Amino acid sequence: MRQTIQALASHHPGAEHVCAACGYTSPRWFGRCPECGEWSSARTSPASAPAPAITSLVHDGPPPQRMVTGMCELDRVLGGGLVAGSAILLAGEPGIGKSTLVLQLMDGVIGRGRRALLMTGEESVAQVALRGARLNVAADRFLVSASSSLEEVLAASLNQRPDVVVVDSVQTLRDDGLEGAAGSVLQVRECASTLVAHAKQTGTVVILVGHVTKEGAVAGPKALEHVVDAVLTLEGERDGSLRTLRVSKNRFGSCTETGVLKLGGSGLEPVEDPSAMMLADRLPGIPGSVVFPCLEGSRPVLVELQALLTPTPQAQPRRVAIGVDGRRLTLLLGVLSERCDESFHARDVFAAAAGGLAVREPAADMALSLALLSARSGTCIDQTTTAFGEVGLGGEIRRVPATRRRIDEALRMGFRTAIVPRGSERSSSGMEEISVGDIRDAWRACTGT
Ligand code: TYD
Ligand code: MG
Repeated sequence: MRQTIQALASHHPGAEHVCAACGYTSPRWFGRCPECGEWSSARTSPASAPAPAITSLVHDGPPPQRMVTGMCELDRVLGGGLVAGSAILLAGEPGIGKSTLVLQLMDGVIGRGRRALLMTGEESVAQVALRGARLNVAADRFLVSASSSLEEVLAASLNQRPDVVVVDSVQTLRDDGLEGAAGSVLQVRECASTLVAHAKQTGTVVILVGHVTKEGAVAGPKALEHVVDAVLTLEGERDGSLRTLRVSKNRFGSCTETGVLKLGGSGLEPVEDPSAMMLADRLPGIPGSVVFPCLEGSRPVLVELQALLTPTPQAQPRRVAIGVDGRRLTLLLGVLSERCDESFHARDVFAAAAGGLAVREPAADMALSLALLSARSGTCIDQTTTAFGEVGLGGEIRRVPATRRRIDEALRMGFRTAIVPRGSERSSSGMEEISVGDIRDAWRACTGT
């Protein structure tokens, strides 16, 4: 239809209105087409619409200016700092540390001579001040207002002209001109769109804090992902201290970086050596334990995967996964039963990534399978052995990315043997690499049988 309209329009360059149904053209608007009788079919002719400016992809302007926050993990995840005029969504479960992170971020930019405004709809200024004192921020230079009205946020930003505006949280924000309570999809989306436009117009960095629940999102981050320039997610077990800062969308940088942070008495601090931290409490000589070199963004981190089996009289034994994917655990138990003749029925199965880091890569399959086989047989796997590779339904081991980086990190942490997928790139490092084609070979390599 579109082509027809365009073709017709080009034959009638003077025409302004075209019937979308039959192609009838007229310089005047019509409610009903006099030719075919269709109602509301009049469209503006493409020929009479002003053409937008067209350019190529050659860009010779300067790269976007970045505002360093001084929180090294955050700066790295952002791709070198905050970009002027960008809108960032910081998502995470309640209590994970979002308000702490934004306060530290603001302190960082304030310390570098910038102005930062916090609009808090969730907490009172006094509550924020208490947290600020705990974090030892430059309290006197903060611009803070307790408001959850969109109008007031815009007015405060235009009035104060800050470099960074933080809205904590987007779910408490309300546009009085719109229907619905704060936190409804309409309110959240419209308020966010207005603030994103404000960021673009004024060059202010707008940071929206948004809550997500474990199940996903309640009128929040999911509805906003397409509106903002970057989406950062702060994750971790609330009871533990480890936090990861992941980036799932970034218009000004890569999406592969992950920050590893620790929430302590004075806020979030970078973890310099995540592998050392993850392995610090490891006990030797326990069956069901295998260390997996996980990729956190582009950085390898060694994580101990643990499995525990306990007899149960229940007809439906429990399968509990903490820090590893529950569906992959079930899949691997199926593969091990079929391909290795190991029965896991009449046993509860617990699998965990120790230390609070969530492991999502399929590359963890082989290490987790070996931990399960080790727990099943009661045989310990050598402490200085590591393993990685994806396990297919046939029990075959599939290659995974970043072999070298994983092996180098394991070597650095004192590991001597790596069980790797057959066909992986080999290295000249001091690591003994054992290539395996299927999960039975891998288990034999571990037990020396
Ligand atoms: P908060 O930033 O309020 O979380 P969110 O905004 O995501 O809901 O922080 C929540 C937890 O962090 C709270 O239980 C206290 C803890 N915390 C620390 O452990 N250290 C600190 O320095 C601060 C300020 C908070
Ligand atoms: Mg908060």
